[in-house]
Amino acid sequence: MRPSRIFTLAALLASACGPSLSPTLAPGGASSQVTVLPPPPPPIPATEVWGPAALADENPAADIVEVTLTAAVAPVSIDGAAPILMYTYNGQTPGPRLEAKVGDRVIVHFKNELPQATTVHWHGLRIPDAMDGSPRIQSPVLPGQTFTYDFVVPEAGSFWYHPHVRANEQVEKGLYGPIIVRERDAAKEPRYAAERVLMLDDVLLTNGQFAPFLASHPEEMHGRFGNTLLLNGKDSSTPARVEVPHYRVERWRLVNTANARTMSLSIAGATFRVIGTDGGLLRAPYGTTRLTLPVGQRYDVEVTFDRVGEVALNSHVLVQDASGNVVEQTLPQLVVTVDAAEDDYPVVSDWTLPPDAQRAVDREVTLTFDAVNDPVMGLMWRINGVSHPVDPLFTFQRGETVRLVLVNRVGPEHPFHLHGQFFEVEEAGQPGLKDTVLVPGLSTVRVVARFDNPGRWMAHCHILEHAELGMMSEVVVGP
Ligand code: C2O
Ligand code: CU
Repeated sequence: MRPSRIFTLAALLASACGPSLSPTLAPGGASSQVTVLPPPPPPIPATEVWGPAALADENPAADIVEVTLTAAVAPVSIDGAAPILMYTYNGQTPGPRLEAKVGDRVIVHFKNELPQATTVHWHGLRIPDAMDGSPRIQSPVLPGQTFTYDFVVPEAGSFWYHPHVRANEQVEKGLYGPIIVRERDAAKEPRYAAERVLMLDDVLLTNGQFAPFLASHPEEMHGRFGNTLLLNGKDSSTPARVEVPHYRVERWRLVNTANARTMSLSIAGATFRVIGTDGGLLRAPYGTTRLTLPVGQRYDVEVTFDRVGEVALNSHVLVQDASGNVVEQTLPQLVVTVDAAEDDYPVVSDWTLPPDAQRAVDREVTLTFDAVNDPVMGLMWRINGVSHPVDPLFTFQRGETVRLVLVNRVGPEHPFHLHGQFFEVEEAGQPGLKDTVLVPGLSTVRVVARFDNPGRWMAHCHILEHAELGMMSEVVVGP
């Protein structure tokens, strides 16, 4: 990396306000010498955001983001050819980007023009439970009806929104969109020339239509695996192509919106490091070669285009070859051409987070995942022996720190998601705050959850078929 391109925050601040602090004044106030101020630094150009366009803010108040979101069926072409009838927000999939600053009040005028009831869940935002889109709390919005979501966003990061009614069908058909929450004080965040919102998905199509839902044993067992990978709603078998100048540094916000597929990703041809997780920026970014991104999770990655040539965001998928062997295939999702011309954007790539208060574990509980084959209902997924438990699994005190021991008794993996709170994974190698964690087949994962947000919160498997077939529970956080 060419170091002169990377400014520290301190250097930028010094260049912005240093000279004006030192005019020499004689006693009595008259200037004894003429201080020639250097010209002010050129304004820093705004960060460009690539991906789904932002929702229009209809409210002129600086701290209120007021938007209109309508769910409706619309014909969408994912590959430039024949359109498919999809479920869309404001006519598009992914839905438009919701963008706000920490502390902003967000008002969403939601209208349901779908033929089915729905809700909107703001995945990862620690907001009041009444606004969380849980159908256990909010009556689902019926076709033709409206609902106003109204909440204050508590922290910065990359999040997403999607329905929480028949999610296996509605999310697959295209109902999801990105959320970016920025710090109020821009100096608390790194600053890059560009950000890319990368929503990774797969859909299962037959003859150009969505294949029937929950119609096969593998779909019930492993979740719905698609046969077409999508990047930001477009069939990525022809990957999107963009060009960037040499030495450009970007922030990529990766979101896995698939029903079931854990994405295995790499970035070839550039230097990158993980700078954020579900719960926002990391205290200590880390390098890696492969990103494992289970459904529901996010990673923020800093990518430095330090070599001229081609860079690819690759998805690694397992396929069967002609002789029936399982082999890994590398499928580029996005191809970036790095030009020889050099970028001159004043990147600020450092940040400091306040030290984290040490929290002792107050309590430990176990959640066990398994399945039974019911002669009438078919395959039923369970948490602690119950499919679709009606009563809350646990009641915690507000402020309690609880170790959740997540025990997977079966072969299929489960990306476990907790609404309204963050947790940390105790096993090494997965730093940062998360709201979703992958529990691989026949294994146990321990997380330490911070139950700071009172209310009734869904706790479920984010493989949407598993959730639909019973792995959907609730915990209560008192008082
Ligand atoms: Cu992303 Cu309960 O969901
Ligand atoms: Cu599951």
